[in-house]
Parts: sequence; C-alpha cells; structure tokens
Amino acid sequence: MDYLEVEGQHKLNGEVVISGAKNAALPLIAATILSDKDVILKNLPDVVDIKTLLKLLKMLGAEVEYDNHQARINCANINSTKAIYEIVSQMRASILVLGPLLSRFKEASVSLPGGCAIGQRPIDLHLKAIEAMGAEVKLEQGYVVAKAPQEGLRGAKIIFDKVTVGGTENALMAAAMANGVTEIVNAAREPEVVQLAQMLNMGGAKVEGIGTSKLKVHGTGGEPLHFKEPIEVIPDRIEAGTYLCMGAITYSELTLKNINIEHIQTTIDKLEDMGCSFENPTSTTLTIKPPKQLKKVNIVTAEYPGFPTDMQAQFMAVATLADEESLIEERLFENRFMHVSELNRLGADIWLKGNVAAIKPVDELIGADVMATDLRASSALVIAALAAKGTTRIRRIYHLDRGYDRLEEKLQKLGAKIVRKKS
Ligand code: EPZ
Repeated sequence: MDYLEVEGQHKLNGEVVISGAKNAALPLIAATILSDKDVILKNLPDVVDIKTLLKLLKMLGAEVEYDNHQARINCANINSTKAIYEIVSQMRASILVLGPLLSRFKEASVSLPGGCAIGQRPIDLHLKAIEAMGAEVKLEQGYVVAKAPQEGLRGAKIIFDKVTVGGTENALMAAAMANGVTEIVNAAREPEVVQLAQMLNMGGAKVEGIGTSKLKVHGTGGEPLHFKEPIEVIPDRIEAGTYLCMGAITYSELTLKNINIEHIQTTIDKLEDMGCSFENPTSTTLTIKPPKQLKKVNIVTAEYPGFPTDMQAQFMAVATLADEESLIEERLFENRFMHVSELNRLGADIWLKGNVAAIKPVDELIGADVMATDLRASSALVIAALAAKGTTRIRRIYHLDRGYDRLEEKLQKLGAKIVRKKS
C-alpha cells in the first residue's frame, strides 16, 4: 500500500495552482443525468472520488470520456437507475444521483450509505425532500428505493431543519425537472451549491435566490436539461486553505493561483488572527506571509459563510506550534477528531472534551509513523509532517488520493521533501 514519507522542517517557496473543487465537481457530474445530450465539464480535479462517480455513471449506461481534467458525459442511454453497494460504499457522495435519477427516470435505488470516520451522516433530509415532492420511498435490503408519481415529481415546499449541503443539492436536482415550483427553505449556501444552481439555470431550469438560504426552483415539467456550453468547475477552496496552512506552519511565503478569494475569506481571517499577512491579493491569486511566531486561534465550525469543518483538522495542525493554547469547536460532525491522536503521535499536546479540542502549544513536532483516517485528517498530518523534525511516514493515504489533486507533486515543486513509497 502507498504511503508518504515527509522529511520536515524545509522551507517552501513558490507558486501553487489550485485545482477544481471535488465537492463542486461531484454534484455537477450527478446533474449531467438530467440531460440527454452531451455535457462538457472542465477543470475537474484528478482525484479518485471523481473517477468513482464517473464509473457509477458508466455503470448506469452513460457515455463518459475523461481526460486531462475534462469530461464529456452523455446520459441519453441510461439503462439502469440503481447505484450499487460496491460503489456507494466507496464514496458516500454517490447519494447525489438519487435526485436527478428520480427526476428524470421517475425511479432510483441507491445503496444506503453507512456512517463514516467523521460521523453517522444520515440521509434522512435527502429522503424527506424527495418525499415532499411526491416520491414514495422504501428501504429494501440496504437500498433506498424511490419512485416518483407517474406524472413525475411535483414542486413542493421543503423546509430543512438542518443545513445540509448534499440534501440541498439533491433537492435542487430533483426539483429541476419536476412539475411546478419547489421552494427550499434553510438551504445550504456553500459555493458548491451555488455552482450547481447556476448549472441548472444554464440547462433550462430556473433557480431563484442563488446564494441565499431560500431557493425557488421552477422545474422543466419533465423536459431534460440541455447544457450547451462547457461548465468549468470552481477552484477548490479547501485545497487552497490547506496550502495556506502549509505556508503558515513552515513559515514560508507561498503564492496561490486560480483561487476564488471570496470563497476562502474565513480561512484568511483565521490565518490573520494567527499573525499571517497577505500580499498582492486579486480575485484569483494571493500570497501568504507568515509572522515570526504564529499566534493562537479560536475556531468554531459552521455552515458557509462560517468557518468550514473541512478546514478544521488543518488549522489544528498549525495551532500545535502557536504561542498559546488554541480552541477548536466542531459543530457539524460528531466524530471529526480522529486526527487528534495521530497529531499527538507527532508530539502535539491536544486534549479533547466533547466537541472541543484544546491545542496546547509545543516547541516542536517530531516525525513518526502515523495513519490517515479521513481526507482532511490526512492533509492535517501532511501539514504537521512538513514542520516536524525528522521523518514522518503517513499511511493509508488512499484517503488523500480521494480529494487532493497531485498533492506530492505540487508540494515537491514548492520545495517540500515528500515522496510516495510502497510498503
Ligand atoms: C458535504 O457533505 C461535503 N461533501 C463534506 O466534505 C463537508 O464536510 C460537508 O458537506 C459540510 O460542509 C461533499 O460535498 C461531497 P451535510 P454532506 O449534509 O453534504 C447532517 C470532505 O472532506 N445531516 O451538509 O454529506 C450531517 O450528519 C467532505 O470533502 C443530517 O442529519 O454534509 C451533518 O451533521 C467530508 N441528515 C450535517 O447535517 C441528512 O440527511 C451537515 O452535513 C444530511 C445531513
């Protein structure tokens, strides 16, 4: 199995080009099911999760060509509406095919995604949304089996009692080809949701209130969508934030290219709290300049535009070397602290009480063998390893490969001593 070997305490320097956002690309790929014509997606990140979803679409009967960060997808001849266990168990986001399959083909069955390393992650809100639109939903032998009325899904008022990114995306896609108007109240406002809504508009649905928590979708009444222009995936705000954390912890000046600066504002604010400054910002580039000594930081995760849970682990790694104790409260997922014990193996001094982590500062981190537990936890270990004295070996990096595009290649270009090895 592959592992990463990192020799720490080397300064980084230079420019890094941020890839397309995995979490934006996944719903865009799912949304191609709503069309019976070619759809071109550009700036796809070269990561395993994207390949997994494309594989699922192929299994459903779609034509898929994928090369060099671009895909042509044609869902004219879809002949199956079943997302099987073998795929869904590899990637929970496969649930995103539920809404579009149901909307276009009036039926869908998707293997029930289980919990995962960061929490239970139920899908009750996805199901409530499609039920409100007239679907009949049953659980049969581990599958969610959903059927729309003969005349198709109907517009409805969906009130989410919790903000859910995937739930909002599924509701949007289900509503896109429904009959009538769907209102989604307490919708997620993440940039990835915004891009999906914009894509649906390009295809002929009409989504109003984009970027707010109240969305109104005028469905096409059964007419498939038609995406005439290629769609370019937005930059990955979490990848951008991860590289900023790498710059901060190694006290290195790094320039990020191809970012959307608005999407990373809370990350920038927290790094400023830690003493970092930012030079030459434009809407798509930014240079981080770390201070002489990093300062403590206090973070509470929240839905967008709040501080992203997907950046929590990376900041925890940086905070290990701050001047005073930092506090991080995780409010979205109940078990997103698996990186704590691994960071402590590197010499960190982190204490957990419920959903709050207290990060006591240490003078240095020291290389060790550690294990990646989920995607963002893995990148936190890379961040810590870059600053640790000696060599760190990070195992189970298949988690990293799911969501970071050519991580070690990008880091090597910045001067990091990082290599992928096989054990
Ligand atoms: C998306 O997951 C992201 N994944 C996650 O990124 C991210 O951490 C999360 O949003 C929050 O920002 C993708 O976009 C593919 P949610 P999602 O539904 O949609 C609860 C990464 O590292 N909930 O917004 O699954 C849920 O348990 C990944 O890239 C219900 O209770 O997250 C959680 O506590 C990890 N019932 C909260 O809502 C439901 O039906 C938010 O989850 C759905 C969710």
